[in-house]
Amino acid sequence: MKILTIVGARPQFIKSYPISKTIDKYNSEIQEVLLHTGQHYDFNLSKIFFSQLSLKEPDYNLGIGSGLHGAQSGAMLEGIEKIILKEAPDLVLIYGDTNSTLAGAIAGAKCQIPVAHIEAGLRSFNLKMPEEVNRILADRVSTYLFCPTENSVNNLKNEGFENFNYSNFKYNKPKIVFSGDVMYDAFLLCKNKMKPSDSIYNIVKENGPFYLSTIHRAENTDSKEKLRDIIEGLEEISKTIPVLCPIHPRTKNKIIEYGIKIKNLILIEPVGYFDMLYMLDNCKAVFTDSGGLQKEAYFSNKLCITLREETEWKELVDIGANTLVGSGKKRILKAEAELSNKKIKIQRGIYGNGNSSERIIKVLHEDFS
Ligand code: UD1
Ligand code: UDP
Repeated sequence: MKILTIVGARPQFIKSYPISKTIDKYNSEIQEVLLHTGQHYDFNLSKIFFSQLSLKEPDYNLGIGSGLHGAQSGAMLEGIEKIILKEAPDLVLIYGDTNSTLAGAIAGAKCQIPVAHIEAGLRSFNLKMPEEVNRILADRVSTYLFCPTENSVNNLKNEGFENFNYSNFKYNKPKIVFSGDVMYDAFLLCKNKMKPSDSIYNIVKENGPFYLSTIHRAENTDSKEKLRDIIEGLEEISKTIPVLCPIHPRTKNKIIEYGIKIKNLILIEPVGYFDMLYMLDNCKAVFTDSGGLQKEAYFSNKLCITLREETEWKELVDIGANTLVGSGKKRILKAEAELSNKKIKIQRGIYGNGNSSERIIKVLHEDFS
């Protein structure tokens, strides 16, 4: 069986790690061809993950880079189609909800190759998010829908996916599988290997108890008011407890463009996965608008304050591990003040048991052998 895996953005390199490791166990029975769209290209957003996680070098790097949605996704679609025609894979494998995900889904479907979507069924119910558009469309043309949570399975059922009836590979409807979350697999595989770099080790030691924060969502960074409000909230908190903030280039550019002043926040370059896990392990709590980090906070037994109005990982809100505060300074400060009254309630199995990758590859292997 030949799988063409499409990656392009930071979280996809991490998600692909446990899946590629699992594919390797099948030796020559499954061949994985890796295509990097080049959506992320800075060393700290791309190569660092390949080297730390010993991911194989991409067989193809389209080098698409940054751009407006149409131009970026269109260039990816054109490039991926060419590789599909050349490689003739049995399956196209896509992760998450980025523009690379959408381009992979459309290219696969148009070339009549079944598409497997890992992280299917997630919904924020906010169509203003580019990621929501990407998720809905990617799910709609995928044959295999590997859902990380029960909520994501239910979302697909509510949208009628079980009733779809079309000629599609060997099924007459999409195959919905509750697989659990491959990010949990990645976390478990790496948590004992997380030796920090010297610089992060020193920053963590120098700053004592600290909060960890990341901001990169378009909905926050593309609005001057929202980004300023969030930063003012975090600046206020930093007066008493240091806030370490590995800064995404999108956010860094916007801080400069908007002329937002940083006094107390400790901005650092984006870090590798091991440094991130080390900071998660050592922080007091997390402030983020990242999808992945909301779960990794929970895996690390840390409370999360999410700088958004909604989340696709709603089960964490339901069990009190995550609080949604949007971008308002007052709500951020209030949530921070209430952290000490809150406790994490661990609920086993909501993201699977760390064997999601095994489950996913087993389903695919059985179907294609
Ligand atoms: C993308 C995904 C988002 C995901 C995030 C993970 C889409 C629509 N968005 O957002 O879902 O959460 O990746 O991090 O696919 N830039 C650099 N260097 C890079 C990459 C980007 O400087 O290596 C800058 C460029 O100015 C670029 C901006 O960051 O315009 C945004 O990059 P882009 O890939 O379009 O979106 P992300 O915000 O990274
Ligand atoms: N991450 C990282 N270094 C950073 C910021 C994030 O290794 O400086 C990891 C993080 O631990 C998680 C993933 O990147 O595994 C999340 O990616 P991101 O927040 O960019 O995207 P999202 O999950 O929101 O799509």
